[in-house]
Amino acid sequence: MLRTAVIGCGAVSRNHGKALKNNRYATLEYCVDIIPERAKAFSETYGGIPLTDYRELFDKNLDAVHVITPHNTHPQIVMDLLDHGINVFCEKPLAITVNEAKQMIRKSEETGKLLGVCFQNRLNKATQEAKEILESGKYGKIVSGMVLVTWDRGGKYYSESPWRGKYSGEGGGCIINQSIHTLDMLDYLSSYCGGVESLSGFDGKLRQTDDYEVEDAGMALINLSCGAQVVAFCTNCYKGSKVCDLELRLEHAVITVRQSGLTIVEEDGNTVFHPATVLTGEKSEWGVSHGLLIDRFYEALIDGTPFVGDCHTALAAVSIVNAIQHSKGRLIKVER
Ligand SMILES: NC(=O)c1ccc[n+]([C@@H]2O[C@H](COP(=O)([O-])OP(=O)(O)OC[C@H]3O[C@@H](n4cnc5c(N)ncnc54)[C@H](O)[C@@H]3O)[C@@H](O)[C@H]2O)c1
Repeated sequence: MLRTAVIGCGAVSRNHGKALKNNRYATLEYCVDIIPERAKAFSETYGGIPLTDYRELFDKNLDAVHVITPHNTHPQIVMDLLDHGINVFCEKPLAITVNEAKQMIRKSEETGKLLGVCFQNRLNKATQEAKEILESGKYGKIVSGMVLVTWDRGGKYYSESPWRGKYSGEGGGCIINQSIHTLDMLDYLSSYCGGVESLSGFDGKLRQTDDYEVEDAGMALINLSCGAQVVAFCTNCYKGSKVCDLELRLEHAVITVRQSGLTIVEEDGNTVFHPATVLTGEKSEWGVSHGLLIDRFYEALIDGTPFVGDCHTALAAVSIVNAIQHSKGRLIKVER
């Protein structure tokens, strides 16, 4: 069994705790939060000795640590862990900026330690089925596409964690925190033909409230390396729904990846729907595959198989986010 720990015992730590409790590959030895009550509560539910300073983990002979802290803290914590010979599973986004993300990737290369990123929706059943269809060429090449994200974030969501809603803590809002999953999925699914190449976009704050300073809406025209263009509409201002759809028009069908499953509309009008299997107890708009991805991370550590969430594959998502934030309508190349 590998020895592991978590740093950050807030909202999404529950998904990590559930996956690590009675995990077949790893035992949860420690849980760290700067708020002692949170570390204690996590420990009582999922196990691990509660601590308040992550630096106490350095000499604990750990194989891996999950970093589940605010965005602005990821680079320092992750690089400290890698420097101490510990493999890291980091929540998305890797970092707020491309430069920081690149430093983290370099550190993983220098130390030879695995740095994985939690884009769990890559392993949702609908995503995996879409990937198989695309790579088989069954319906031809990607011609165009659409990313649609309509969530609701405001008020309590921002007030319950001080880093959220501020550029210094979160690095943005609707694009870097919520829409990043669907933007990453676009890059992941199109990676077989080169992924996202460049984009022009806009972002801004539409709500006239002062509970957050970050953007709550953004749009982009995204150029894939294969020549197709994808339009993205993203907002956190829609009270009515939690949609994150990715539609891809192929030469002979339209496929749509949703939380609920994969829809294929063939060129003769025939429609096929493959429903997603939803694991109970996981918040569905986060995707349902935290546990699956965490198991894959440990399998990669044990037998050296390539990890589907390897940090090198997570740089593009940070670059796409930064590009939408800085484009102001200009064409920006995406780094990978
Ligand atoms: N993959 C997903 O679907 C998903 C969903 C939600 C959040 N997230 C990501 O998970 C991360 C955490 O988000 P959250 O919503 O759980 O935040 P949160 O604010 O609920 O929890 C963060 C916790 O980290 C603790 N913390 C802060 N600095 C620390 C430090 N230096 N050492 C130890 N603990 C520290 C805080 O006290 C807090 O308890 C973010 O990167 C977020 O984007 C991912």
